[in-house]
Amino acid sequence: MLSRQVADKLRQHETPFYLYDIALLRQTLESVVYESNKYGYKVHYAIKANYDDYLLSIIREYGLGIDCASGNELRKAIETGFSPEGIVYAGVGKRDKELRYAIEQGILAINCESIQELMVIDALAAEAGRVTNVALRINPDIDPKTNHCIDTGQADSKFGISYDDVLDHADEIKALKHISIRGLHLHIGSQIRELHVFENMCLKVNAIVKALRGMGFDFSFVDVGGGLGVNYDVPENEPIPNFASLFSIVHNHLDVGGCEVHFEFGRSIVAECGELITSVLFTKTTATGRKLLIVDASMTELIRPALYGSYHNIENITSTAERTDKYTVVGTACESTDIFDENVGLLRSSRGDLLTIKSAGAYGMSMASRYNLHDLPGAVYSDKL
Ligand code: LLP
Repeated sequence: MLSRQVADKLRQHETPFYLYDIALLRQTLESVVYESNKYGYKVHYAIKANYDDYLLSIIREYGLGIDCASGNELRKAIETGFSPEGIVYAGVGKRDKELRYAIEQGILAINCESIQELMVIDALAAEAGRVTNVALRINPDIDPKTNHCIDTGQADSKFGISYDDVLDHADEIKALKHISIRGLHLHIGSQIRELHVFENMCLKVNAIVKALRGMGFDFSFVDVGGGLGVNYDVPENEPIPNFASLFSIVHNHLDVGGCEVHFEFGRSIVAECGELITSVLFTKTTATGRKLLIVDASMTELIRPALYGSYHNIENITSTAERTDKYTVVGTACESTDIFDENVGLLRSSRGDLLTIKSAGAYGMSMASRYNLHDLPGAVYSDKL
């Protein structure tokens, strides 16, 4: 972990802040580009994972496209210099003004999530005098074997159009004159560690593509989403996620004729390069004997533990103690669930020590809030230390 090596330098910065290991980000990008090039796969970065300007400028250097989930994410991608032809835009509830903007920009595809959305896009594109590229986001009904809070591809989920709905409305969809259906899209969930799930996904996609082609739909690309998980337990063991295995599974099981294959990775690109650095403010023991470490970060900087019960490995990077103790690490917010971890073994810790909360580069800063009127955390980049 970078923070341990540069702990002295971190003292100059006001906590809490995100520390980004730029060398690790570059190695991760090199890996995903190298592995995807073996099969000619296209990779989009899911900007929702982290929209930090400096990280985005680096990601752009490696030629990735963007997957976005709102008009503002789309605008951010375009303003950062990503080419519209490499941008896809998904989301169950796109506002008219967001759709108009996407139509105007001429992006690779608006990933449509309902029959009604297809109709609305057709009407808005007609108004703009354009034909807009879309992809059908199909709900594949797959259990991705991850935390239920972050699965997206099961039949009852709000995401995507059910396959039956597409069949029922096939003729109406094909009759729309201002949309051009270019792709098929799906995303089954996030933080997927059991890679065999992707095998099932491929088999489902094969069947769906075949059936829809049989009905006269034609696709130039299939976008199988993101979801590759990272090692939150012991990040040091796996700083770069195993893109090679995922691509090899897809290569061996996906059979979609001449379609380009696209991925949308968020977490696997940026999670491990980010750490949340926080200071111990106070220590105290509850009446029940629980030792609390009260740190100056909270759920307003990193909401994942409070929101999903997610685990992040925590370490004290400045303690010179030789013994460890068990602590409950809590944040400053006025919420009882504002707990980073319980019963965590740390070097004996005291006021002023710096802790790192690891693997926080994805869905950390991008989900930060100003609850309790907290300031938003800053960012420190390893190559500018
Ligand atoms: N594509 C679509 C359509 C998505 O909805 C997502 C994530 C991705 C790609 C990127 O997935 P990834 O490669 O990052 O797994 N806030 C949650 C995760 C929510 C994921 C939302 N969609 C968390 O902190 O775990």
